[in-house]
Amino acid sequence: MHEKPQGQFGDYQNEIYFNGLAGVLPSLPMNHSELEARAQAALPPSVLSYVAGGAGDETTQRANTSAFERWGLLPRMMVGATRRDLSVELFGLRLPTPLFMAPVGVIGLCAQDGHGDLATARAAARTGVPMVASTLTVDPMERVAAEFGDTPGFFQLYTPTDRALAESLVRRAEAAGFKGIVVTLDTWITGWRPRDLAAGNFPQLRGHCLANYTSDPVFRARLAKTPEEDPGAAVLEWVRVFGNPLTWADLPWLRSLTELPIVLKGICHPEDVRRARDGGVDAVYCSNHGGRQANGGLPALEALPGVVAAADGLPVLFDSGVRSGADAVKALALGATAVGVGRPYAYGLALAGIEGVVHVLRTLLAEADLIMAVDGYPALADLRAEGALWRI
Ligand SMILES: Cc1cc2nc3c(=O)[nH]c(=O)nc-3n(C[C@H](O)[C@H](O)[C@H](O)COP(=O)(O)O)c2cc1C
Repeated sequence: MHEKPQGQFGDYQNEIYFNGLAGVLPSLPMNHSELEARAQAALPPSVLSYVAGGAGDETTQRANTSAFERWGLLPRMMVGATRRDLSVELFGLRLPTPLFMAPVGVIGLCAQDGHGDLATARAAARTGVPMVASTLTVDPMERVAAEFGDTPGFFQLYTPTDRALAESLVRRAEAAGFKGIVVTLDTWITGWRPRDLAAGNFPQLRGHCLANYTSDPVFRARLAKTPEEDPGAAVLEWVRVFGNPLTWADLPWLRSLTELPIVLKGICHPEDVRRARDGGVDAVYCSNHGGRQANGGLPALEALPGVVAAADGLPVLFDSGVRSGADAVKALALGATAVGVGRPYAYGLALAGIEGVVHVLRTLLAEADLIMAVDGYPALADLRAEGALWRI
Protein backbone atom coordinates (compact mmCIF):
# COMPACT_ATOMS: atom_id res chain seq x y z
CA MET A 1 0.00 0.00 0.00
CA HIS A 2 1.24 3.46 -0.85
CA GLU A 3 -0.36 6.59 0.57
CA LYS A 4 1.51 9.22 -1.39
CA PRO A 5 -0.82 11.56 -3.24
CA GLN A 6 -2.13 9.77 -6.29
CA GLY A 7 -5.37 11.72 -5.98
CA GLN A 8 -6.15 14.29 -3.32
CA PHE A 9 -5.44 13.97 0.37
CA GLY A 10 -9.13 14.50 1.12
CA ASP A 11 -9.89 11.20 -0.64
CA TYR A 12 -9.03 9.50 2.63
CA GLN A 13 -12.55 10.27 3.79
CA ASN A 14 -14.03 8.39 0.81
CA GLU A 15 -11.93 5.38 1.70
CA ILE A 16 -13.26 5.51 5.27
CA TYR A 17 -16.92 6.04 4.27
CA PHE A 18 -16.79 3.24 1.69
CA ASN A 19 -15.24 0.91 4.23
CA GLY A 20 -18.11 1.90 6.50
CA LEU A 21 -20.59 0.83 3.80
CA ALA A 22 -18.92 -2.56 3.84
CA GLY A 23 -19.33 -2.64 7.62
CA VAL A 24 -15.68 -1.88 8.39
CA LEU A 25 -15.35 0.91 10.92
CA PRO A 26 -12.05 2.76 11.47
CA SER A 27 -10.06 1.13 14.26
CA LEU A 28 -7.98 4.26 14.81
CA PRO A 29 -9.22 7.59 16.27
CA MET A 30 -10.50 10.31 13.99
CA ASN A 31 -9.68 13.23 16.29
CA HIS A 32 -6.82 14.27 18.52
CA SER A 33 -8.48 13.98 21.91
CA GLU A 34 -9.41 10.35 21.35
CA LEU A 35 -5.97 9.66 19.87
CA GLU A 36 -4.33 11.15 22.95
CA ALA A 37 -6.54 9.27 25.40
CA ARG A 38 -6.10 5.91 23.69
CA ALA A 39 -2.35 6.31 23.19
CA GLN A 40 -1.89 7.38 26.77
CA ALA A 41 -3.58 4.20 27.89
CA ALA A 42 -1.24 2.22 25.61
CA LEU A 43 2.08 3.74 26.73
CA PRO A 44 4.07 2.59 29.76
CA PRO A 45 3.83 5.26 32.53
CA SER A 46 7.49 6.34 32.30
CA VAL A 47 7.30 6.94 28.54
CA LEU A 48 3.87 8.54 28.87
CA SER A 49 5.01 11.15 31.40
CA TYR A 50 7.99 12.00 29.20
CA VAL A 51 5.91 12.36 26.01
CA ALA A 52 2.76 13.98 27.36
CA GLY A 53 4.37 16.18 29.98
CA GLY A 54 5.78 19.66 29.63
CA ALA A 55 7.48 22.38 31.60
CA GLY A 56 6.05 23.75 34.85
CA ASP A 57 2.28 23.55 35.16
CA GLU A 58 2.14 23.19 31.37
CA THR A 59 0.44 26.54 30.76
CA THR A 60 2.55 27.19 27.66
CA GLN A 61 1.96 23.68 26.38
CA ARG A 62 -1.81 24.22 26.61
CA ALA A 63 -1.52 27.75 25.21
CA ASN A 64 0.28 26.35 22.15
CA THR A 65 -2.84 24.42 21.19
CA SER A 66 -5.48 26.97 22.20
CA ALA A 67 -3.67 29.74 20.26
CA PHE A 68 -5.02 28.21 17.05
CA GLU A 69 -8.58 28.98 18.19
CA ARG A 70 -7.84 32.70 17.92
CA TRP A 71 -7.44 32.60 14.13
CA GLY A 72 -10.02 31.82 11.45
CA LEU A 73 -10.18 31.55 7.66
CA LEU A 74 -12.68 33.61 5.72
CA PRO A 75 -14.26 31.32 3.09
CA ARG A 76 -14.29 32.19 -0.61
CA MET A 77 -17.07 30.85 -2.85
CA MET A 78 -17.36 30.08 -6.58
CA VAL A 79 -13.66 29.22 -6.70
CA GLY A 80 -14.13 25.68 -7.99
CA ALA A 81 -11.18 24.40 -5.97
CA THR A 82 -11.53 20.88 -7.33
CA ARG A 83 -7.76 20.33 -7.20
CA ARG A 84 -5.68 21.55 -4.32
CA ASP A 85 -1.91 21.81 -4.29
CA LEU A 86 -0.40 21.28 -0.85
CA SER A 87 3.12 20.66 -2.10
CA VAL A 88 5.98 22.86 -0.92
CA GLU A 89 9.52 23.56 -1.97
CA LEU A 90 12.23 23.41 0.64
CA PHE A 91 15.98 23.57 -0.03
CA GLY A 92 15.35 22.82 -3.69
CA LEU A 93 13.33 19.71 -2.80
CA ARG A 94 9.72 19.45 -3.94
CA LEU A 95 7.78 17.87 -1.04
CA PRO A 96 4.30 16.47 -1.75
CA THR A 97 2.92 17.76 1.56
CA PRO A 98 3.56 20.78 3.78
CA LEU A 99 3.98 18.55 6.86
CA PHE A 100 7.04 17.04 8.46
CA MET A 101 7.54 14.94 11.57
CA ALA A 102 9.27 17.00 14.25
CA PRO A 103 12.20 15.40 16.05
CA VAL A 104 10.98 13.38 19.04
CA GLY A 105 13.87 12.02 21.07
CA VAL A 106 12.11 9.05 22.62
CA ILE A 107 10.09 8.10 19.55
CA GLY A 108 12.07 4.86 19.58
CA LEU A 109 10.48 3.92 22.91
CA CYS A 110 6.95 4.80 21.80
CA ALA A 111 6.75 1.74 19.55
CA GLN A 112 5.79 -1.53 21.11
CA ASP A 113 8.86 -3.25 19.64
CA GLY A 114 11.15 -0.45 20.91
CA HIS A 115 12.21 0.55 17.39
CA GLY A 116 10.03 3.57 16.83
CA ASP A 117 12.68 5.49 14.94
CA LEU A 118 12.65 2.84 12.23
CA ALA A 119 8.84 2.72 12.21
CA THR A 120 8.67 6.51 11.85
CA ALA A 121 11.17 6.42 8.99
CA ARG A 122 9.04 3.77 7.27
CA ALA A 123 5.95 5.93 7.74
CA ALA A 124 7.89 8.79 6.12
CA ALA A 125 8.66 6.52 3.17
CA ARG A 126 4.99 5.61 2.81
CA THR A 127 3.51 9.09 3.12
CA GLY A 128 6.16 11.40 1.66
CA VAL A 129 6.12 13.33 4.96
CA PRO A 130 9.76 13.84 5.96
CA MET A 131 11.05 12.74 9.33
CA VAL A 132 13.42 14.93 11.29
CA ALA A 133 15.37 12.27 13.16
CA SER A 134 16.50 13.29 16.64
CA THR A 135 20.05 12.91 17.91
CA LEU A 136 18.43 10.76 20.63
CA THR A 137 17.44 7.51 18.92
CA VAL A 138 17.23 3.85 19.80
CA ASP A 139 18.70 2.89 16.42
CA PRO A 140 21.69 4.72 14.94
CA MET A 141 20.99 7.36 12.31
CA GLU A 142 22.40 5.22 9.48
CA ARG A 143 19.77 2.54 10.10
CA VAL A 144 17.01 5.13 10.39
CA ALA A 145 18.02 6.83 7.12
CA ALA A 146 18.06 3.48 5.34
CA GLU A 147 14.27 3.29 5.83
CA PHE A 148 13.38 6.65 4.23
CA GLY A 149 12.74 5.26 0.74
CA ASP A 150 12.59 8.22 -1.63
CA THR A 151 11.28 10.63 1.04
CA PRO A 152 13.99 13.08 2.13
CA GLY A 153 14.98 13.04 5.79
CA PHE A 154 16.62 15.58 8.07
CA PHE A 155 18.94 15.10 11.04
CA GLN A 156 18.36 17.05 14.24
CA LEU A 157 21.58 17.89 16.04
CA TYR A 158 21.87 18.43 19.76
CA THR A 159 25.27 20.09 19.55
CA PRO A 160 27.65 18.38 21.96
CA THR A 161 30.25 20.29 23.94
CA ASP A 162 32.96 18.33 22.12
CA ARG A 163 33.32 19.95 18.69
CA ALA A 164 34.97 16.85 17.21
CA LEU A 165 31.93 14.82 18.23
CA ALA A 166 29.59 17.41 16.70
CA GLU A 167 31.55 17.21 13.49
CA SER A 168 31.48 13.43 13.51
CA LEU A 169 27.68 13.37 13.93
CA VAL A 170 27.25 15.81 11.05
CA ARG A 171 29.65 13.84 8.78
CA ARG A 172 27.70 10.68 9.54
CA ALA A 173 24.40 12.42 8.74
CA GLU A 174 25.83 13.58 5.41
CA ALA A 175 27.11 10.10 4.59
CA ALA A 176 23.78 8.53 5.56
CA GLY A 177 21.98 10.74 3.04
CA PHE A 178 20.15 13.22 5.28
CA LYS A 179 19.17 16.34 3.35
CA GLY A 180 19.65 18.94 6.06
CA ILE A 181 20.75 19.54 9.64
CA VAL A 182 18.30 20.97 12.18
CA VAL A 183 20.23 22.44 15.10
CA THR A 184 18.08 22.65 18.23
CA LEU A 185 19.02 25.65 20.34
CA ASP A 186 16.53 25.55 23.22
CA THR A 187 17.61 22.32 24.91
CA TRP A 188 21.26 22.68 25.92
CA ILE A 189 19.80 22.28 29.43
CA THR A 190 16.63 20.41 30.39
CA GLY A 191 13.65 22.55 31.43
CA TRP A 192 11.79 22.00 34.72
CA ARG A 193 9.38 19.12 34.06
CA PRO A 194 7.32 18.22 37.13
CA ARG A 195 5.83 15.02 35.69
CA ASP A 196 9.25 13.54 34.97
CA LEU A 197 10.65 14.87 38.23
CA ALA A 198 7.82 13.26 40.21
CA ALA A 199 8.60 9.94 38.55
CA GLY A 200 12.36 10.50 38.96
CA ASN A 201 12.59 9.55 35.31
CA PHE A 202 14.84 10.85 32.58
CA PRO A 203 15.14 8.17 29.88
CA GLN A 204 18.64 9.01 28.65
CA LEU A 205 20.09 8.66 32.16
CA ARG A 206 18.75 5.11 32.09
CA GLY A 207 20.80 4.55 28.96
CA HIS A 208 17.90 4.92 26.50
CA CYS A 209 18.13 6.53 23.07
CA LEU A 210 21.91 7.00 23.05
CA ALA A 211 22.68 4.89 19.96
CA ASN A 212 24.06 7.82 17.95
CA TYR A 213 26.62 8.37 20.71
CA THR A 214 27.53 4.79 21.51
CA SER A 215 28.00 4.05 17.80
CA ASP A 216 30.17 7.11 17.23
CA PRO A 217 33.96 6.65 16.92
CA VAL A 218 34.71 10.04 18.53
CA PHE A 219 32.41 9.32 21.47
CA ARG A 220 33.78 5.81 21.90
CA ALA A 221 37.36 7.15 21.90
CA ARG A 222 36.48 9.25 24.96
CA LEU A 223 35.66 6.10 26.97
CA ALA A 224 38.11 3.86 28.87
CA LYS A 225 35.88 0.83 28.24
CA THR A 226 33.41 0.27 25.41
CA PRO A 227 29.73 1.17 26.05
CA GLU A 228 28.97 -2.56 25.78
CA GLU A 229 31.46 -3.35 28.59
CA ASP A 230 30.54 -0.40 30.82
CA PRO A 231 27.16 1.14 29.89
CA GLY A 232 27.08 3.27 33.07
CA ALA A 233 30.32 5.04 32.18
CA ALA A 234 28.93 5.73 28.70
CA VAL A 235 25.86 7.40 30.21
CA LEU A 236 28.05 9.57 32.48
CA GLU A 237 30.16 10.57 29.49
CA TRP A 238 26.96 11.42 27.60
CA VAL A 239 25.98 13.72 30.50
CA ARG A 240 29.36 15.46 30.15
CA VAL A 241 29.09 16.06 26.41
CA PHE A 242 25.35 16.56 25.84
CA GLY A 243 24.41 20.21 26.18
CA ASN A 244 26.40 22.95 24.50
CA PRO A 245 25.19 26.45 25.51
CA LEU A 246 25.84 27.88 22.06
CA THR A 247 26.15 31.62 21.44
CA TRP A 248 25.99 33.54 18.18
CA ALA A 249 29.79 33.42 18.17
CA ASP A 250 29.48 29.67 17.49
CA LEU A 251 27.37 30.13 14.37
CA PRO A 252 30.28 30.52 11.89
CA TRP A 253 31.71 27.24 13.21
CA LEU A 254 28.31 25.50 12.90
CA ARG A 255 27.91 26.89 9.40
CA SER A 256 31.39 25.65 8.45
CA LEU A 257 30.52 22.08 9.47
CA THR A 258 28.50 21.25 6.37
CA GLU A 259 27.32 22.27 2.95
CA LEU A 260 23.93 20.76 3.76
CA PRO A 261 21.13 23.20 4.57
CA ILE A 262 21.24 24.29 8.22
CA VAL A 263 18.04 25.08 10.13
CA LEU A 264 18.06 26.72 13.57
CA LYS A 265 15.26 25.31 15.77
CA GLY A 266 13.73 27.21 18.66
CA ILE A 267 13.82 30.68 17.09
CA CYS A 268 10.89 32.89 18.19
CA HIS A 269 12.29 36.43 18.42
CA PRO A 270 12.56 38.52 15.21
CA GLU A 271 16.01 39.77 16.23
CA ASP A 272 17.21 36.16 16.49
CA VAL A 273 15.81 35.53 13.00
CA ARG A 274 17.89 38.42 11.67
CA ARG A 275 21.03 37.12 13.38
CA ALA A 276 20.39 33.65 11.97
CA ARG A 277 19.95 35.11 8.48
CA ASP A 278 23.13 37.14 8.82
CA GLY A 279 24.94 33.98 9.89
CA GLY A 280 24.03 32.27 6.63
CA VAL A 281 21.56 29.62 7.79
CA ASP A 282 19.11 28.19 5.27
CA ALA A 283 15.95 28.28 7.38
CA VAL A 284 14.68 29.10 10.84
CA TYR A 285 12.35 26.88 12.83
CA CYS A 286 9.84 28.68 15.02
CA SER A 287 9.05 26.44 18.00
CA ASN A 288 8.97 26.48 21.78
CA HIS A 289 9.64 22.74 21.93
CA GLY A 290 5.96 22.02 22.54
CA GLY A 291 6.10 23.85 25.88
CA ARG A 292 8.46 21.20 27.26
CA GLN A 293 11.36 23.51 27.97
CA ALA A 294 10.20 26.81 29.50
CA ASN A 295 6.78 27.42 31.00
CA GLY A 296 5.10 30.81 30.99
CA GLY A 297 6.11 31.73 27.47
CA LEU A 298 4.03 32.86 24.53
CA PRO A 299 2.41 30.19 22.40
CA ALA A 300 4.69 29.51 19.43
CA LEU A 301 1.90 30.44 17.01
CA GLU A 302 1.90 33.99 18.40
CA ALA A 303 5.59 34.30 17.57
CA LEU A 304 5.16 32.99 14.02
CA PRO A 305 4.05 36.21 12.23
CA GLY A 306 7.03 38.14 13.63
CA VAL A 307 9.40 35.34 12.65
CA VAL A 308 7.98 35.19 9.11
CA ALA A 309 8.28 38.96 8.70
CA ALA A 310 11.88 39.03 9.92
CA ALA A 311 12.77 35.97 7.84
CA ASP A 312 12.03 38.04 4.75
CA GLY A 313 11.73 35.11 2.39
CA LEU A 314 14.00 32.69 4.25
CA PRO A 315 12.02 29.44 4.81
CA VAL A 316 10.29 29.19 8.20
CA LEU A 317 9.51 25.82 9.71
CA PHE A 318 6.98 25.77 12.52
CA ASP A 319 5.79 23.44 15.28
CA SER A 320 4.20 23.43 18.74
CA GLY A 321 0.53 22.71 19.23
CA VAL A 322 -0.52 21.41 15.80
CA ARG A 323 -3.29 18.91 16.44
CA SER A 324 -5.46 19.00 13.31
CA GLY A 325 -5.48 19.80 9.63
CA ALA A 326 -7.19 23.07 10.52
CA ASP A 327 -4.22 23.98 12.73
CA ALA A 328 -1.79 23.17 9.93
CA VAL A 329 -3.75 25.35 7.50
CA LYS A 330 -3.60 28.30 9.93
CA ALA A 331 0.15 27.98 10.45
CA LEU A 332 0.63 27.84 6.67
CA ALA A 333 -1.63 30.87 6.23
CA LEU A 334 0.51 32.74 8.77
CA GLY A 335 3.50 32.11 6.52
CA ALA A 336 5.09 28.86 7.70
CA THR A 337 6.81 27.11 4.81
CA ALA A 338 6.24 23.70 6.40
CA VAL A 339 4.51 22.57 9.57
CA GLY A 340 5.85 20.08 12.11
CA VAL A 341 3.74 17.41 13.77
CA GLY A 342 5.06 16.33 17.18
CA ARG A 343 3.10 14.49 19.86
CA PRO A 344 0.26 13.35 17.53
CA TYR A 345 2.50 11.03 15.52
CA ALA A 346 4.11 9.72 18.71
CA TYR A 347 0.61 8.79 19.89
CA GLY A 348 -0.22 7.20 16.53
CA LEU A 349 2.95 5.12 16.82
CA ALA A 350 2.15 4.06 20.37
CA LEU A 351 -1.32 2.92 19.33
CA ALA A 352 -0.68 1.14 16.07
CA GLY A 353 2.96 1.31 14.96
CA ILE A 354 3.65 2.40 11.38
CA GLU A 355 -0.07 2.19 10.55
CA GLY A 356 -0.81 4.55 13.42
CA VAL A 357 1.70 7.16 12.21
CA VAL A 358 0.45 6.88 8.62
CA HIS A 359 -3.15 7.27 9.81
CA VAL A 360 -2.38 10.37 11.89
CA LEU A 361 -0.57 12.03 8.98
CA ARG A 362 -3.30 11.11 6.51
CA THR A 363 -6.05 12.50 8.77
CA LEU A 364 -4.18 15.80 9.16
CA LEU A 365 -3.60 16.05 5.42
CA ALA A 366 -7.18 15.06 4.55
CA GLU A 367 -8.64 17.69 6.84
CA ALA A 368 -6.26 20.39 5.59
CA ASP A 369 -7.05 19.50 1.98
CA LEU A 370 -10.82 19.49 2.54
CA ILE A 371 -10.69 22.86 4.33
CA MET A 372 -8.85 24.31 1.34
CA ALA A 373 -11.51 22.80 -0.94
CA VAL A 374 -14.53 23.99 1.06
CA ASP A 375 -13.11 27.43 1.79
CA GLY A 376 -11.91 28.02 -1.76
CA TYR A 377 -8.15 28.25 -1.27
CA PRO A 378 -6.71 25.80 -3.80
CA ALA A 379 -3.04 26.64 -3.22
CA LEU A 380 -0.94 27.52 -0.20
CA ALA A 381 -0.18 30.90 -1.78
CA ASP A 382 -3.93 31.65 -1.74
CA LEU A 383 -4.06 30.98 1.99
CA ARG A 384 -1.29 33.51 2.53
CA ALA A 385 -3.01 36.26 0.54
CA GLU A 386 -4.26 39.37 2.32
CA GLY A 387 -7.71 38.86 3.87
CA ALA A 388 -7.66 35.05 4.05
CA LEU A 389 -6.86 34.58 7.75
CA TRP A 390 -8.34 36.71 10.48
CA ARG A 391 -7.74 37.21 14.16
CA ILE A 392 -10.86 36.22 16.10
C1 LIG B 1 8.63 13.34 23.79
C2 LIG B 1 9.24 14.46 23.02
C3 LIG B 1 10.60 14.41 22.72
C4 LIG B 1 11.17 15.44 21.97
N1 LIG B 1 12.50 15.34 21.61
C5 LIG B 1 13.05 16.30 20.83
C6 LIG B 1 14.38 16.15 20.35
O1 LIG B 1 15.03 15.15 20.57
N2 LIG B 1 14.88 17.18 19.61
C7 LIG B 1 14.16 18.31 19.33
O2 LIG B 1 14.66 19.21 18.66
N3 LIG B 1 12.89 18.44 19.74
C8 LIG B 1 12.32 17.46 20.48
N4 LIG B 1 11.01 17.57 20.87
C9 LIG B 1 10.23 18.75 20.45
C10 LIG B 1 9.54 18.50 19.11
O3 LIG B 1 10.47 18.50 18.06
C11 LIG B 1 8.50 19.61 18.83
O4 LIG B 1 9.13 20.87 18.94
C12 LIG B 1 7.31 19.53 19.77
O5 LIG B 1 6.89 18.19 19.95
C13 LIG B 1 6.14 20.37 19.26
O6 LIG B 1 5.11 20.38 20.20
P1 LIG B 1 3.77 19.48 20.09
O7 LIG B 1 4.23 18.07 19.99
O8 LIG B 1 3.05 19.74 21.37
O9 LIG B 1 3.03 19.94 18.87
C14 LIG B 1 10.40 16.54 21.58
C15 LIG B 1 9.03 16.57 21.87
C16 LIG B 1 8.44 15.53 22.57
C17 LIG B 1 6.96 15.56 22.82
